[in-house]
Amino acid sequence: RLSRRHVFGYAGAAGLGGAAGVVAGRATAGSDDAAAQRVGGRTYLAHGDHQSGILTPTPAVGELVAFDLLPSVDRTALGRLMRVWSGDVAALAAGRPVPGDAAPDLAQAGVSLSILIGLGPRVFDLPGLAAARPTGFQEIPPMAHDRLEDRWSGGDLLAWVSADDATSVAHAVRRLTTDAAPFARPRWTQRGSWRPVDADGNPVTGRNLFGQLDGSANPSGETLTATVFSTDGWLAGGTQLVVRRIEMNLATWDELTRDRQERVIGRALDTGAPLTGTAEHDDVDLTAAVDGVPVIAADAHARVAHPSHNSGRRMLRRGLNYTHEEWIDGSWTSSAGLIFTAFQASIADQFIPVQRMLDQGDALNEWTTAIGSAVFVIPPGFAEGAWLAQGLLG
Ligand code: HEM
Repeated sequence: RLSRRHVFGYAGAAGLGGAAGVVAGRATAGSDDAAAQRVGGRTYLAHGDHQSGILTPTPAVGELVAFDLLPSVDRTALGRLMRVWSGDVAALAAGRPVPGDAAPDLAQAGVSLSILIGLGPRVFDLPGLAAARPTGFQEIPPMAHDRLEDRWSGGDLLAWVSADDATSVAHAVRRLTTDAAPFARPRWTQRGSWRPVDADGNPVTGRNLFGQLDGSANPSGETLTATVFSTDGWLAGGTQLVVRRIEMNLATWDELTRDRQERVIGRALDTGAPLTGTAEHDDVDLTAAVDGVPVIAADAHARVAHPSHNSGRRMLRRGLNYTHEEWIDGSWTSSAGLIFTAFQASIADQFIPVQRMLDQGDALNEWTTAIGSAVFVIPPGFAEGAWLAQGLLG
């Protein structure tokens, strides 16, 4: 049985009071019954202080679509698109078709659908918006281990659709893309999956394709709020998102002994416990040593990424696993990895210094390579009758 501590989204979202609400099967804060903890089969209300898709649990299927604005789009036109998308987001989340929906029967409640909308750096180059660029919002500078490809990088807008099933995701993506067509065209699409639930339907920390529990040390409670949400002007209640497509070399990872795999991270594979503890949520003890040798190695990922190694800097990670097959030079090639995403109040103050630290000293670099990079401002949530980024564009 799990502790509920690491399950952000149910009690967590309710406790924050302003996160997008849940209409079907809503958990009452503090309730312990199994139904309230169920993962999947949810209907998340789109309206609230924060967009849903940040604190709501990661459903099984996610698709991130980045768009490029058409050259004709100015601040006013972008405002029109945000009004249209806000209506779409509210309708689709509630299980209603959007206006003019060509496949209205695909709209369905109870599929844990959430849609997260973001704005890329070039939005703040549009006339009249330069002064509104949020503090700390910037592209990730080149890192020594990066092998970035244009096809997974950049973008002026983001729509990140999550749901329990790929059909619901495909329908929502198609509606958003169709409605955006007068303003923007898709630049890249990344699809991934996550398994945030155990065999009995209880929420758990999901595993990445190396088999590791991934997300255990995510912040919770007040630390989570302070880590993620901006208090800066029009962005108050919003956040900043980094999307990195990180290829994982499963072939060479598989050759390692289990013991070596655990030392690379500093955590046990089965329980996710730090090598200095016994349970997943035990604190990582970076001072523990045996015969003068640190239990968590100097280059272990859990040490180098740890807040105490990074002047207290944190982020909220919410990854998706991907596999990708391509026909190259007459044969099929497959690759796999993590669509790594991190939310924080300031990319410059949080993600970038931690990423620099990892670039220089993380044992994991031998098996992981960033091949895509993008950054987005995630506007705050919106109330009924209002629209996304109204504080910026209204
Ligand atoms: C922790 C895997 C990339 C930041 C962890 C953990 C695993 C993991 C297994 C320990 C469990 C947990 O707390 O979630 C990976 C893999 C990566 C990757 C497989 C690449 C494919 C990154 C990147 C960053 C990052 C790019 C940030 C720049 C963190 C942080 C923690 C963490 C902040 C928590 C440290 C703590 O508070 O103890 N990661 N990670 N990771 N990772 Fe990563």
